[in-house]
Amino acid sequence: MHLLTLSTVTADRMPAARLMVNRGADRVSGRLWFHADAESPKVAELRTSPYACVVGYDPSEGIELRVMGSAVVHTRGHVADRHWGQFANIATWMIGSPEARPSGPYATDLRLPPDPDKLMHGLTARSRERFAVVEVVAETIDWLQAAGSDQKRAVLRRSGHWRAEVVG
Ligand SMILES: Cc1cc2nc3c(=O)[nH]c(=O)nc-3n(C[C@H](O)[C@H](O)[C@H](O)COP(=O)(O)O)c2cc1C
Repeated sequence: MHLLTLSTVTADRMPAARLMVNRGADRVSGRLWFHADAESPKVAELRTSPYACVVGYDPSEGIELRVMGSAVVHTRGHVADRHWGQFANIATWMIGSPEARPSGPYATDLRLPPDPDKLMHGLTARSRERFAVVEVVAETIDWLQAAGSDQKRAVLRRSGHWRAEVVG
C-alpha cells in the first residue's frame, strides 16, 4: 500500500481527496507520513481542519484499509528535517545513478524534475521552504477483506489499544 488516497475537508466543508505516495509509517505510534508542497490546497485544508482519512488497497490480499485521525503539518523541526534528509538522499542517489531511477507510478515524486540532469534544482533552499510533511495520527482503522463473496470486517481503535473488533 504505497500509493494511498488522502482525504481532507475544505474550508467550505466539502470533501477533497488525492493520491499520495506514502513516505513512512510507524505501527507503535500509529502514524503515517506524506510529503507535500507547503503551499498546496491540501496543506491549507489540513491547517484549517486538521482531520484526515487515508484509504489504501492491497490487491494481492483483497484488503481495504481506511485510517481516520488527525493530521499535523510539519514545515520545520525534526520531523520536517528528517524527511527532507530522506528526500534529498533519494534525489542525490538518483543524480549519481540516473539509470537506477525507479519507474512506474509508485516511484512518482512530482517535486522531482523528470530529467535527471535537472535533479539538483529540486534541492534548492526554495524547495526546502515549500517542503511540508503531513503526519496523520491514526485514531481508528477500518479493515475490510473481500475475497470472492466472502467479506471480513474489523475496526481497530487507538482507544481500544488497537485490538481488532470484528464487525458484522
Ligand atoms: C501516482 C501519484 C502520486 C502522487 N504523489 C503525491 C505525493 O506524494 N505528494 C503530493 O503532494 N502529491 C502527490 N500527487 C499529486 C496529488 O494527487 C495531487 O494531484 C496534488 O498534490 C494536488 O493536490 P491538492 O490540490 O489537493 O493539494 C501524486 C499523484 C499521482 C498521480
